[in-house]
Amino acid sequence: MSQLSVQHLLGIKYITKKDIELIFSQADQFKEVINRPIKKVPSLRDITIANIFFENSTRTRLSFELAEKRLSADVVNFSASSSSVSKGETLIDTVNNILAMKVDIVVMRHPKPGAPLFLSKHVNAQIVNAGDGAHEHPTQGLLDAFSIREKLGDLKGVKVAIVGDILHSRVAISNIYCLQKMGAEVMVCGPTTLIPKYISALNVKVEHDMKKALQWCDVANMLRIQLERQDIQYFPSLREYVMMYGLNKQILDSLKKEIIIMHPGPINRGVEITSDVADSKHSVILQQVENGVAIRMAVLYLLAS
Ligand code: CP
Repeated sequence: MSQLSVQHLLGIKYITKKDIELIFSQADQFKEVINRPIKKVPSLRDITIANIFFENSTRTRLSFELAEKRLSADVVNFSASSSSVSKGETLIDTVNNILAMKVDIVVMRHPKPGAPLFLSKHVNAQIVNAGDGAHEHPTQGLLDAFSIREKLGDLKGVKVAIVGDILHSRVAISNIYCLQKMGAEVMVCGPTTLIPKYISALNVKVEHDMKKALQWCDVANMLRIQLERQDIQYFPSLREYVMMYGLNKQILDSLKKEIIIMHPGPINRGVEITSDVADSKHSVILQQVENGVAIRMAVLYLLAS
């Protein structure tokens, strides 16, 4: 059986095109499994997985837990807000205590960029990054690219515009790495203040006019404004942001072509996207969530192999 080139999934930056193809091909098989009446396989029956979340999550946490249970793994969940972290315990101590209970894989979300990489060097378990600050969210990047591939058949030559708060977005970074490795063209679009200065090093197109970005692309991935990571004001008002970068039905209809609309969630309806677009036939937002389970099953299965 083919194996991933890495022991941990810390970011898309650190994996190869071959790894991504392997994950996608495995996810194709698991997607078929999770659409059967009996959605479970015994593949990880002897594996114990800890989901440790130091930051809020709905989709990623539930999706990992479901993926683990569909693979028959034993699962424990840890939330920093209800743990002894608040009593001053360090990250390494916390995780080593969890590992002392014979855990094989740790799925971790943390507000600090690099926390999963740090952990992978200090504890004896496989680490899966479920989002670390504004650094990477590798399984989101994989499930987004997988959803485009499912819709369009191939990623090579597909034009994807990522619109919104690029500066604070781990989803944008993981999408850029994943899409480029698979041969897609990527554009980022948003106000100058929300485009990071290092973007030129990532070989993506930059556009500040959303309508031009939408005219260019086959797929638009709409990101929310990450107010929880913003320490200063990056645009004059939310009203102005919505006027410049909010996607509504009128703008979509004016394009005179069909594009696919994506959103990693959580959606701020009426800000980056209106309900009539989020719930339209152009939107694959719920397919992304469904594909997230298959992708996470594939990642865990391949890492455990
Ligand atoms: N897409 C995503 O990471 O959502 P959650 O923050 O709800 O996990």
